[in-house]
Amino acid sequence: MQRGWMAKSAHRPLPTTGALTGTLEALAFFRDPTFAQRRFKRHGNVFETSMLGQPMVFIQGEQAINDLLSQADAIDGWWPKSVQQLLGRHSLANRNGASHKARRKVVAQLFSTSALMRYGPSIIEMVDDLADELKNATRPVPLASKMRGFAFSVIASTVLGLEGTDRDEMFLDFEIWTKALFSIPIALPGSPFAKALKARKRLLERLRKVLSEPINCQGGLDLLTGSLDESGIPLTDEDLVEQLLLLLFAGYETTASALSCLMRELLINPPIEAWLREEIDYLSWPPTPQLVSIDYDTTNAPRLDAMVREVMRLTPPVGGFFRRTKKTLVVDGVVIPANRVVQIALTASNRNGIGDLEAFRPQRHIDNDCSITLMPFGGGERICLGKSLAELEIRLMVVGLLRQLQLVVIQDQDFTLQQLPSPFPQDGLLVKAQN
Ligand code: HEM
Repeated sequence: MQRGWMAKSAHRPLPTTGALTGTLEALAFFRDPTFAQRRFKRHGNVFETSMLGQPMVFIQGEQAINDLLSQADAIDGWWPKSVQQLLGRHSLANRNGASHKARRKVVAQLFSTSALMRYGPSIIEMVDDLADELKNATRPVPLASKMRGFAFSVIASTVLGLEGTDRDEMFLDFEIWTKALFSIPIALPGSPFAKALKARKRLLERLRKVLSEPINCQGGLDLLTGSLDESGIPLTDEDLVEQLLLLLFAGYETTASALSCLMRELLINPPIEAWLREEIDYLSWPPTPQLVSIDYDTTNAPRLDAMVREVMRLTPPVGGFFRRTKKTLVVDGVVIPANRVVQIALTASNRNGIGDLEAFRPQRHIDNDCSITLMPFGGGERICLGKSLAELEIRLMVVGLLRQLQLVVIQDQDFTLQQLPSPFPQDGLLVKAQN
């Protein structure tokens, strides 16, 4: 009895910013990239605030994140209302428990090692096409939008098998859809959210068409065999199309952000580019189809690996992800009551610790002097399903471009990063190829 009381009293109550309506907090969140960092400094690694009426707990640090994610039975997945509505009620992102697990098993078939081997040649072809386009361009090219197009095409063409006009029209709808992701979910006529709901309708129609047509073996949809739900009943097409929509959502903005931020660092930081090139000049291009997923891994390409890690640390494509508590939990010594939304604040967490953590220095990952445990792909039962595909795409693009081109940036542009929904260079990273 006494010991139980002692243990309980050692836990601290949840610190709060005192915000009630959360209007100013939400404005500050969207305007100030150091929003969470500043509040962590004041309140510690776990605190609560309010965002437009939604109470939200923020957490940072390895201890707090591990404490939360390791208690799988006590947490559910959660996304803001706008994301929930745009993804749809069938989407595995909006499901929990057995129903979530069953759909993850289905979708994971698209990202197995053998599936990645199949996708390799088509991704390499896209990288070569982009290298040619850059070589032949007569005007500066916005590299960030090329990265968006590439990451979208990998999922739309390589994974889903979409071709030509269908793919291009879907891309336009997706750009509309993405703009409203973290907006206020009120469909006033003409608002970004209303436009996004219309775009969602068109996207689902196209995806339904993909499923109703004979399977195009260029893509990976034939790998979706035995798609059963949690009670062993085949998934309906309505259910499957929402899983495919999720893949487009989850996979392109994120990967394009990582690629754009990585290329930006190389282009504005010539000593880092020279350091990376010393390794890349010895890597083969294109890689062997059978070894496509290991040719440029940590063992064969440690500097490239360190470069990717550092981009994911300093500019994580997903700056924060969420859970909802089902029970009272203790996280890093702080009590979080049941039914609270918790944001795992990766951007702040990745800069919190000892050393020069505000600097971009990939060498830290080779010298083993990075004190941060990185989780750019999340963790626990909801860890990113496309992690291996994203890692492969990024490595193929960086090696393919650097082996074939020397790019230079146009100096007169804004290199700062827009932060939401994912970091991107403000002016699109205008580049030209050097002859
Ligand atoms: C650099 C690129 C990427 C990053 C940084 C990233 C990051 C993340 C993060 C942080 C989560 C949330 C994990 C959690 O809640 O614990 C997530 C979930 C997910 N990601 Fe990714 N992702 C990337 C690329 C991709 C790609 C290419 C795909 C597929 C085409 C993909 C598919 C998914 C799916 C389906 C989920 C939901 C998993 C679930 O709720 O069970 N992601 N990703």
